[in-house]
Amino acid sequence: MGTAMHSPLVVGNWKMHKDPAETACFFKAFEALIDSRVRCDVVICPPFLDLETAVDASSGTRVQIGAQNLHWAKEGAYTGEISGPMIRACGCSHVIVGHSERRRYFGETNESVSRKTLAALDAGLTPIVCIGDFEKKNASDVIVEHFRCSLGGLSVDQFARIVVAYEPFWAIGSGDVAAPAMAGDAHRFIRGQAEAMFGAEASKSTRLLYGGSVKPGNAAGLMAESEIDGFLVDGASLDPAGFASIANLWIPPAP
Ligand code: PGA
Repeated sequence: MGTAMHSPLVVGNWKMHKDPAETACFFKAFEALIDSRVRCDVVICPPFLDLETAVDASSGTRVQIGAQNLHWAKEGAYTGEISGPMIRACGCSHVIVGHSERRRYFGETNESVSRKTLAALDAGLTPIVCIGDFEKKNASDVIVEHFRCSLGGLSVDQFARIVVAYEPFWAIGSGDVAAPAMAGDAHRFIRGQAEAMFGAEASKSTRLLYGGSVKPGNAAGLMAESEIDGFLVDGASLDPAGFASIANLWIPPAP
């Protein structure tokens, strides 16, 4: 179980799924399924159009709401874009930045990830910055490049306020989850990079999440790895029972 100084974190990334009515239904069911003894933070990131419904439905519960992307400018002539201050004003606390689908299909670069991460922090949002490899071999080169080029512009204090999600692209939506030992090695490697760049204290303050085919059946094995501080979950976060059962893994054992 994770070594970061914060409590563990489970993030649901709904991608382009669910409309406002389906969002309201999800929260109604989810609230009843999540155990009150759970000791992890829970963030759900629905599509932009569902944010208001999600913020209302989660008010007074342990669940916080995040967006899946933002523009780096506060406002301006950027048709179709949404800014950090707008997301914050909607009641969100988090935003995903640089998901591999955005890198692969929408031209997201390390430079835009870096600008968006700083913009999110400026807006008072916690960025969940995604890094990851495209192939099983030479993973460390891509991790180093993403890590240095996407996060190199942050101060130590800023780094300590972000969440990093390690998502090997081949594991996303494929059912081909990383073996716990493999994910654990990648997380140790990333923690080492963080320590070298930002120092031991900031490195421990930052939660490192694993993402890619996390399911109720494999989450416990991954969670046992010391450097995994939680999960970024897509497919399994769409179903209230499945997502609750992942979060419910963090119920402390009875004394
Ligand atoms: P998955 O997606 O859980 O469906 O594999 C993870 C992600 O893309 O964040």
